[in-house]
Amino acid sequence: MAKMWAGRTSGETDRVADEFNSSIHFDSRMYREDITGSMAHAAMLGARGIITEAEADVLISGLEGILADIDAGKLEIDMSCEDIHMFVEQVLTERLGDVGKKLHTARSRNDQVALDLRMHLRAAIDGLLEQLHELVEVLADQAEENKSVIMPGYTHLQRAQPITFAQHLLAYAMMLLRDIDRMKDVRRRTNVSPIGCCALAGTTYDTDRWFEAKKLGFDDICRNSLDGVSDRDFCVEFMSAASVLMMHLSRFAEEIILWSSWEFKFIELSDAYTTGSSIMPQKKNPDMAELIRGKTGRVYGDLVALLTTLKGLPLAYNKDMQEDKERVFDTIDTVDMCLRVLTPMLATMTVLPNNMKQAAQKGFINATDLADYLVKKGMPFRSAYKVSGQLVAKCIAEGKVLETLTLEEYRAASELIDEDIYQEIDLTTCVEKRISEGGTSLRSVEAQIAYVKEQLA
Ligand code: ARG
Repeated sequence: MAKMWAGRTSGETDRVADEFNSSIHFDSRMYREDITGSMAHAAMLGARGIITEAEADVLISGLEGILADIDAGKLEIDMSCEDIHMFVEQVLTERLGDVGKKLHTARSRNDQVALDLRMHLRAAIDGLLEQLHELVEVLADQAEENKSVIMPGYTHLQRAQPITFAQHLLAYAMMLLRDIDRMKDVRRRTNVSPIGCCALAGTTYDTDRWFEAKKLGFDDICRNSLDGVSDRDFCVEFMSAASVLMMHLSRFAEEIILWSSWEFKFIELSDAYTTGSSIMPQKKNPDMAELIRGKTGRVYGDLVALLTTLKGLPLAYNKDMQEDKERVFDTIDTVDMCLRVLTPMLATMTVLPNNMKQAAQKGFINATDLADYLVKKGMPFRSAYKVSGQLVAKCIAEGKVLETLTLEEYRAASELIDEDIYQEIDLTTCVEKRISEGGTSLRSVEAQIAYVKEQLA
């Protein structure tokens, strides 16, 4: 078929070259944006008298018809077209005749594709923001329910100090709140209209770029035509924000995997979010969490791939940039799937407080509290640290824990120790005493939950 862009050339392009050049198998997913963008363009052309109002109306209803037909499955997107922009224009011209050929006045595929992509990404970010919102809500609810569930807090994956499960979950809630903030920021810079930049230099027609921008819900317009058609930094920003988000999800997934193991058994995932083994009947595998961890690599890959594609490109548009969409779409779809699985996985997990408590009772995670006790009785911290360490060593040697040492044993280590030591090193006391802002005490956890809910509101 003759190409719509066959102007200077008359020879046919090679079939394989055509296939290589074509982007319709992935950019067809932007048909809605392409058509609504074209409707705004037609309206602008009519309003400025570049075409007649009547012609604009014909174009707009023609475009409406195409959109409705695609939505209804009555019009199949022709995968032999080069891209979605060509497809829509071709159908429009088939349906309307010569009027259809007027749509592309004062426009280029270069500003058109940039427009479509910005609109598509904007909608995708809105969807992801909603999902992130829901995830943080689930975390806040789980935190509420596990306010007094004690578990060991870790550093170096070694038991360190007692915390509540709520405190641990809220750490992720805080990270995700920042992810939400980053995504909102990306949305702000994505929501800038490139339409009207045309091929690269603007146009000789008396267009109104703000008219189109406002009609399509943009907050601003690209202020330089070359920049408008050639930069994809909004895609890069999206993928970097998505990479940070995935890094958080991956760390969380890793903990879910650990917590689900027999070695920890802090939680049990619902059967809905686990798989069995084809050979080992006893297995319940956290595949979904592992996939979230694994798919993080894809998103990092998308980011690096696009950065690499863009780095050597002279201004303005180059066909290399067609490579942007698959990376952006892959990131959108990957993050979407991960969130769709993670949120209900967390909402339905069973928390096993007894196992957490048992783990907390081993590992001497109240040794800092013992040292703090001695400090309050007048001993300098470094000396107190030493006494506590020596008592831990004694416990390890004798197979005891700090709670089971006798008062005589304590007093042999320091005369400052009295009967109240047992109350002091009780894990509940240890948690409750961490009253500093952001600490693990009940009051602080409640304040954090309130903060998270306030941020979501
Ligand atoms: N399919 C192209 C892309 O995704 C659309 C823009 C084509 N522009 C051009 N001058 N060939 O980038």
